[in-house]
Amino acid sequence: MAKMFAFLVAVACLFQGTAAVGPSKPHLSPFNWNGKSYGCRCYPGDACWPAQKEWTKLNSSVSGNLAVLVPPEAACHNSFNGLLGTIQTFDAAKCADVTARYPTEQWTNEQDATMLWKYTTNSSCTLTTDPTTPCGPGYYGTYVIRAKTKNDIKAGVDFANKHNLRVIVRNTGHDFMGRSTGYGALIINTHSFQDAEFHKSWKPSKPGGYTGTAVTIAAGVQGRALLRQAIAQTPPVTLITGECPTVGIAGGFVQGGGHGMLTTTHGFAADNALSFEVLTADGKFVTANDKKNPDLFYGLKGGGPGNYGIVLSASFKTFAEKPSAGATLYINATLTTNSNLFWEGVRIFHSFANDFVDAGLYVLFTIAPPGTLRIKPFVAFDQTAAQLEATLSPLKAALTAAGVPFYSGPTNQYDSLFSLYIDLFDDESAGPPFLTSGWMIAKQDIETNNDEIISAFKTGISPREDFTNQGYLIGHLFGPGHNTAIPPGISATNPRFRHNTNLMLYNLPVPVNATLAQKADIQSLMTDTLDRAMKEASPNGCAYVNEADPIREDWQGEFWGPEVYPKLKSLKKKWDPKGTFYAVSLPGTEVWEVIDYGRRLCKLL
Ligand SMILES: Cc1cc2nc3c(=O)[nH]c(=O)nc-3n(C[C@H](O)[C@H](O)[C@H](O)COP(=O)(O)OP(=O)(O)OC[C@H]3O[C@@H](n4cnc5c(N)ncnc54)[C@H](O)[C@@H]3O)c2cc1C
Ligand SMILES: *[C@@H]1O[C@H](CO)[C@@H](O)[C@H](O)[C@H]1NC(C)=O
Ligand SMILES: *[C@@H]1O[C@H](CO)[C@@H](O)[C@H](O)[C@H]1NC(C)=O
Ligand SMILES: *[C@@H]1O[C@H](CO)[C@@H](O)[C@H](O)[C@H]1NC(C)=O
Ligand SMILES: *[C@@H]1O[C@H](CO)[C@@H](O)[C@H](O)[C@H]1NC(C)=O
Repeated sequence: MAKMFAFLVAVACLFQGTAAVGPSKPHLSPFNWNGKSYGCRCYPGDACWPAQKEWTKLNSSVSGNLAVLVPPEAACHNSFNGLLGTIQTFDAAKCADVTARYPTEQWTNEQDATMLWKYTTNSSCTLTTDPTTPCGPGYYGTYVIRAKTKNDIKAGVDFANKHNLRVIVRNTGHDFMGRSTGYGALIINTHSFQDAEFHKSWKPSKPGGYTGTAVTIAAGVQGRALLRQAIAQTPPVTLITGECPTVGIAGGFVQGGGHGMLTTTHGFAADNALSFEVLTADGKFVTANDKKNPDLFYGLKGGGPGNYGIVLSASFKTFAEKPSAGATLYINATLTTNSNLFWEGVRIFHSFANDFVDAGLYVLFTIAPPGTLRIKPFVAFDQTAAQLEATLSPLKAALTAAGVPFYSGPTNQYDSLFSLYIDLFDDESAGPPFLTSGWMIAKQDIETNNDEIISAFKTGISPREDFTNQGYLIGHLFGPGHNTAIPPGISATNPRFRHNTNLMLYNLPVPVNATLAQKADIQSLMTDTLDRAMKEASPNGCAYVNEADPIREDWQGEFWGPEVYPKLKSLKKKWDPKGTFYAVSLPGTEVWEVIDYGRRLCKLL
């Protein structure tokens, strides 16, 4: 069982960690844990933690944009007991405001460090009506640089290198895996980088051998805001963004791959990247594209978020906007409470998944307990309503023939993909502490093994007696590169994706007050029951680094596979030999471990 799980069960162990007194040199800080010697990043209380005057200097080098991180929830507590001491925080008006805005994704994105999905933060400072309850840092950082210029970002990386600190790049806080949070870290927040420049033609003098339309975006630009600017161009354009309106584009999204409404017709965001401006781990500004630093370019296209450098801006191909068609279909308790009939409906729907992708569709759906299938929406880019209706009619006929009642909304024609997007995609809310994982189901397995796949979905909804009807599934049907000749190996995404059809995510709720033992139990339920069921049902599938539990035995093979992984591991060695950037289950990070109950980032000595 993998490392992170080890810290969760380590609660049973007798040894407590002790900070050894070390020299205040920027090499790893000695720490003993469970009878073993580690070299770690520096944390408050360690001899090597930078003195106040160093922080003051850093603050002036970032024009006063350095702040001590105080979580917004602290306004509802008397004090925030952070790593740097206790700060009085109660503020009734602010608490009411934070409580009202808390579920809003965009509000969360705009905070210094708050994660949308709280599980990976340790939920140590929650909203409350009782201000006497404790509020601690959990797995959040200590200081945040609210970066306004690329030199602010460089100052943060240089400071972290000099003082042996963990550094975290935080863009929108979407990461399910907690890769944009880290205990005791110096956080570099990129939200203020919002520029987007559209190009009528990507100059032949620029690399890529491409002369079509393009856009160059800064690190903080988010999906729907970018699509709004794209539709306003003359002529209007579009590009690959996530289904979720607030996911960033140049951060974790493209660096993990990046799928969305156009992935069936145009591939991943990573397949369509033209160039990146990057700050390297040793603090140098470089360009990465097919002419300059092509190896780094490759790694940034799906090789894992935040692992090789900090992206300052990214350029992508854009495409002509086209009239598109969209539709919805539901099966729910108003129609039937017969569980067998419900699952028969799900089985029939899923048996058409390959046909939908072959017909150029992208489809988003959820399966919620006890019996709701919500397919919202079917997206047919550059197709008419009649074309989409023709693709959907065999599904409707099969459901009808099987006596499965369903509600289907009208098949609508839209003047653009953007108007479809605004009409048919819903805002999502900042989530409670779910544990999330996912598996991309292979085309071939849907053909031969659909019944077992549906059994795995049932396992996802009710993984164990005490978790009956507690799971929640989110499916995404897409084929990255179905209708387009995407050259193999253009990006560092797992080659298996090209033969896959359904990216299935599954969540398990974790109580906010869960003990370490409870968390370990839910983690093993995820790994040993849910992940296993999905993998066994679709052995030809693979996992998406941005949307799958990182605690898996063969994350290297499942995220990237044997062709791509070795290249990424050597890239990491070349571009970040000292491990300035770390997040769980990313190429070349095997030597690092988070120990001390999820706190210290260390290397075994
Ligand atoms: C509700 C929801 C819906 C989603 N929908 C989709 C979807 O449709 N398609 C899809 O592909 N994914 C989707 N995702 C997953 C999403 O792609 C990842 O969570 C992604 O990591 C988000 O990137 P971010 O930069 O916005 O977020 P953050 O959480 O801020 O950052 C994520 C990771 O990227 C790193 N990072 C951020 N900015 C930079 C930078 N400038 N340079 C280097 N590293 C950086 C961070 O350090 C961290 O490791 C969804 C996630 C959620 C929560
Ligand atoms: C950084 O400087 C600004 C402006 O002088 C100040 O408001 C802020 O509190 C300082 N940050 C820290 C961590 O001291
Ligand atoms: C994390 O939460 C657990 C309880 O679930 C608690 O015992 C532990 O102290 C917390 N760790 C941090 C760093 O907040
Ligand atoms: C089922 O779906 C229909 C159509 O969207 C909706 O009107 C109805 O309220 C839903 N029923 C339940 C129980 O959610
Ligand atoms: C967590 O809170 C719930 C509801 O308040 C309570 O029933 C449960 O016993 C608590 N669990 C722990 C471990 O404190």
